[in-house]
Amino acid sequence: MSVVKSELEPAFRPMLDSDIASVMAIEEEVYSHGWTEGIFHDCLRVHYSCWVMLQDEQIIGYGVISVAAGEAHILNIAVTPSMQGRGYGRQCMNFLLETARHHGADTVFLEVRPSNHSAFRLYDSLGFNQVGVRYDYYPAGASGREDAIILALPL
Ligand SMILES: CC(C)(COP(=O)(O)OP(=O)(O)OC[C@H]1O[C@@H](n2cnc3c(N)ncnc32)[C@H](O)[C@@H]1OP(=O)(O)O)[C@@H](O)C(=O)NCCC(=O)NCCS
Repeated sequence: MSVVKSELEPAFRPMLDSDIASVMAIEEEVYSHGWTEGIFHDCLRVHYSCWVMLQDEQIIGYGVISVAAGEAHILNIAVTPSMQGRGYGRQCMNFLLETARHHGADTVFLEVRPSNHSAFRLYDSLGFNQVGVRYDYYPAGASGREDAIILALPL
């Protein structure tokens, strides 16, 4: 049976320190060079806007943004692998964009690996445009380093 994307309505709530173990379990599954537990704790400590996305009370994804001086930066977004491809990533992005707007941002920035085709397509479909490149920014295992493409969306 195919999943009807519009029927999926995840809940969002602020991330707590006590969520970080669940968040890390996803982080370690979806990224080869992901964030450490300490980075999530630091994001909460400095009051970045950190959210968990829930379905049936289970954490299925999360997003972290910082907003200052009219600029928002989406620092992390992920959906647990078993729930990917069902519209949750798009809903999480829309939630983060709405949060950025609510905090007075007029532009949203993010960085993505050029090899991350699903994320790239998602951002492209939301209207993000390439505004720069950080050369050799990400570690990339045996192949060395990978660029970061900087994308921006005016709100
Ligand atoms: C990127 C990510 C958040 C997308 O979440 P998702 O729930 O799978 O995405 P959705 O089901 O909402 O799909 C949204 C769009 O992403 C793109 N997309 C998703 N899966 C894709 C795939 N396998 N191939 C190509 N495009 C894909 C499509 O444009 C899709 O829109 P469409 O269904 O209307 O065509 C998720 O893949 C993820 O957590 N990846 C690992 C972490 C990561 O890379 N984060 C981004 C770092 S910059």
